[in-house]
Amino acid sequence: MTTTPLTIDPLNTAAKRKIFGMIQAFWQSQCLYVATRLGIFNLLHDEGAQSADTLAEKTKTKVDRLYVILRALAHLDVLAERPDRIFAATETSALLVTNHGPSIGHFAMHITEPAQWDAWNQLEAALHTGDVAFERANGKSVYDFCQDEPWSGDVFMNAMSFLTDHAIDALLDVYDFDRFPTIMDVGGGQGGSIGNIVKRFGCKGILFDVPYVTATAPAYLAKLGVSEGSIEVISGDVFEAVPTGADAIVMKYFISAWNDDDARIILKNCRAALPPHGKIILLQAFVPDLDDPKTAPDGIMPGLFAVQIMVSVPGGAWRTRQQFKTLFEECGFKLEKTVDTGTNLSAMEFGLA
Ligand SMILES: C[S@@+](CC[C@H](N)C(=O)[O-])C[C@H]1O[C@@H](n2cnc3c(N)ncnc32)[C@H](O)[C@@H]1O
Repeated sequence: MTTTPLTIDPLNTAAKRKIFGMIQAFWQSQCLYVATRLGIFNLLHDEGAQSADTLAEKTKTKVDRLYVILRALAHLDVLAERPDRIFAATETSALLVTNHGPSIGHFAMHITEPAQWDAWNQLEAALHTGDVAFERANGKSVYDFCQDEPWSGDVFMNAMSFLTDHAIDALLDVYDFDRFPTIMDVGGGQGGSIGNIVKRFGCKGILFDVPYVTATAPAYLAKLGVSEGSIEVISGDVFEAVPTGADAIVMKYFISAWNDDDARIILKNCRAALPPHGKIILLQAFVPDLDDPKTAPDGIMPGLFAVQIMVSVPGGAWRTRQQFKTLFEECGFKLEKTVDTGTNLSAMEFGLA
């Protein structure tokens, strides 16, 4: 057997920089996690610039160790470093503040918390066995974990609410939800999506999710300014049954968490709950086809996100538009339209076949 010698161009610094960047990416995520969890961004935002000593005292950490993290974050332009180890907030760190409502800081913490980290350690083993890496590492599903661990559950709900806040206006600007008298969000979290839909279009809403999540929904919806009584909050298990009464079902970043067999049960239950004119509106990012751009306009890379999804839930690895279309068709739906929104979020609308 002849092998072609590998030619390495010593001057190929662009490729090397790229690889160094990839290697260093996980260090960045962990610096982000630690600083967000310690509340560093909250302190700098609420109280102004302060020294590493003061920040260490307030966060009960060793100053010389904390300083290394703060300096790295300054080198990444997340913080600004001034003489005498003084650190100040920046435009980027303002986004990571977590004590003024859901933010990208919650999303960062959810994705990089120790339970997720442990799951990534199981990735190689899970490739061989086909297990869900999160379940190998933590002994339970991510949803059960979030239910049992109050801090993780709270961060998860806020992370999901942030993702909704981030993309919802762009969706509502282009999608004609005003056709539907009643819309139900299945796996709708705290109600950010349905709350905004009801507020904008004046329809009735139903929010359906598991009990520990729906318990937080009334307070969240009130804060969002949704008028009382316009959204019915229902707790339950989508694998048992889906409530009736909606003309359209919205599912945002929900069915992607499940493998095809589970997804078929969910879609069967949705179909049983819908009237003949009913629709399902699938809202999420789709893994691009070969010739499509690989990064969504807001910076999310669905193909990379798919690895995170594969690590943490049974859903495998998200799906392409064609894979979703086939899955829905197998369950008695037909694709009626697709709408892109300019964020990571796109919509596929299905009617009953
Ligand atoms: C990835 S989150 C998406 C939340 C929301 N749709 C959004 O985009 O922010 C998935 C949601 O599905 C809910 N969920 C998980 N298992 C469920 C089940 N068996 N029945 C109903 N909801 C469930 C979770 O509690 C969570 O709120």
